[in-house]
Amino acid sequence: MLSTNIKEATKAEHQNLEKQVVLKLKAIRSNQDYADLLKHFFAYFSHIEATIKPFITASVLPDYAQRRNSDYIKADILELGVDITDLPFTTVPKIENAVQALGALYVLEGSIMGGSIIVKMLEKGGVTKGVSFFSGYGEATGMMWGNFIAVLNAQAKTEQEEQEAIVAANETFKHFASVFEKERVGTV
Ligand code: HEM
Repeated sequence: MLSTNIKEATKAEHQNLEKQVVLKLKAIRSNQDYADLLKHFFAYFSHIEATIKPFITASVLPDYAQRRNSDYIKADILELGVDITDLPFTTVPKIENAVQALGALYVLEGSIMGGSIIVKMLEKGGVTKGVSFFSGYGEATGMMWGNFIAVLNAQAKTEQEEQEAIVAANETFKHFASVFEKERVGTV
């Protein structure tokens, strides 16, 4: 099943991205630092959301409008008293159909799974404001994930479509990690 295969096939890229995000989280000393991390998420999520939007129609994913998106990140940044300027440079994978778009969305929706861990790490660093994005769907998280996975599995009907979703998901992880990696190289 695609949901099992995509998880396995993107494990390494998830770990790499997680490492980048944890490095940033550990360096947070102020709301300003946290807002800077959120800007990375905002720049990338808003870019990729715009890329997948034409393919994620209401017939593909009926509850898409109810799902968490980069508007939450923007609201969190503003709540921290920071504005949406000086965003990092981002690139996104090429998305040309619904199955690839769902592969990319798998990465965005799946990021909610680590969200509660991120909220706890932020608390340790004294940050409790602007956490709507990482709080995900709260108690509805399991249900929302289950609904998404069902749509993802139903969309990929052939081996080739499964592969397309997996490649798109891996590329989505890679392009996001490079937003952090490029910056690190640039500041050494
Ligand atoms: C501090 C950073 C992160 C931590 C600690 C973390 C941790 C986790 C954990 C614990 C899970 C659940 C694994 C399971 O229940 O089997 C998970 C799943 C997932 N995470 Fe992360 N994560 C982080 C960042 C991210 C980011 C930034 C993204 C994407 C933008 C992401 C994408 C995913 C995806 C797609 C899944 C779902 C895997 C699946 O069940 O198919 N994660 N993560």
